[in-house]
Amino acid sequence: MAYTIAVAGKGGTGKTTLAGFLIDYLVEKKFAPVLGVDADPNANLNEVLGEDVEITLGDIREDISVKNRDGKLPGGMSKTDYINYKLQQAIIEGHGFDLLVMGRPEGAGCYCFANGILREATDRLSDNYKVMVIDNEAGLEHLSRRTTKSVDIMFAVSECSKRGIEAAARVKELIEELKLDVKELYLIVNRVPEEGLSDDIKQAIEGYGLKLAGIVPLDAKVFEYDNKGIPLVQLPKDSNAVKNARQIFDKIIIPQIKM
Ligand SMILES: Nc1ncnc2c1ncn2[C@@H]1O[C@H](COP(=O)(O)OP(=O)(O)OP(=O)(O)O)[C@@H](O)[C@H]1O
Ligand SMILES: [Mg+2]
Repeated sequence: MAYTIAVAGKGGTGKTTLAGFLIDYLVEKKFAPVLGVDADPNANLNEVLGEDVEITLGDIREDISVKNRDGKLPGGMSKTDYINYKLQQAIIEGHGFDLLVMGRPEGAGCYCFANGILREATDRLSDNYKVMVIDNEAGLEHLSRRTTKSVDIMFAVSECSKRGIEAAARVKELIEELKLDVKELYLIVNRVPEEGLSDDIKQAIEGYGLKLAGIVPLDAKVFEYDNKGIPLVQLPKDSNAVKNARQIFDKIIIPQIKM
């Protein structure tokens, strides 16, 4: 089973950015093979990583259900064989890692279907990879849909505000309530201003019993690259955001994964 790391949290907190930084870091540290999973129907992890997406799990689901309905599965292939075959096609070979994109189901299709196939895909593929990094959509709903069986580390990403910390605390509550198999939950506060965390915020973190993995500073370079459409993984490794994110990964991730 792949060591599974997921990011969750409110909209726009920096989940995709940090998931991208993490994949880039794991590749550089030679944790191979790495699978990145974009579980957000509004896929954009590929942009952070600088990869093109040609086919998503949403497309595959559509194709399978149409072929199955019309009795047009390729001769001699069972539905399971066909799913496996198509799944291989949906794996994007990136620079040093693979990427799987959920995408959105076509038409009025329900997300639960794409989610179901995503869960099936991550279960099937888990043995083929050393580490799996899952970028989730915003909010908490995906937690109840259980996109993966088990998660070794979940990062709840928060903006630097009390309300942000509250939202991260709800991730914690929901994990407990739904009895999700998440071994460790850590908070990352992102876009922290120069003066650092205020006492109020520190108290809130402690009050909710959240484990702070670390903070990532507000970094104008991230905005700059984003606005110019340059993949964020091309940021200099000594830029403020990347450097601090990597310190977190060094501390939290490295001791956990066996080479
Ligand atoms: N440390 C940072 N400093 C400056 N800008 C940042 C930082 N982290 C993220 N950003 C910017 O914040 C915006 C949101 O980031 P990102 O897309 O990673 O968030 P998200 O949580 O994945 O959003 P969504 O909920 O829409 O998926 C992006 O424009 C990104 O460039
Ligand atoms: Mg995102």
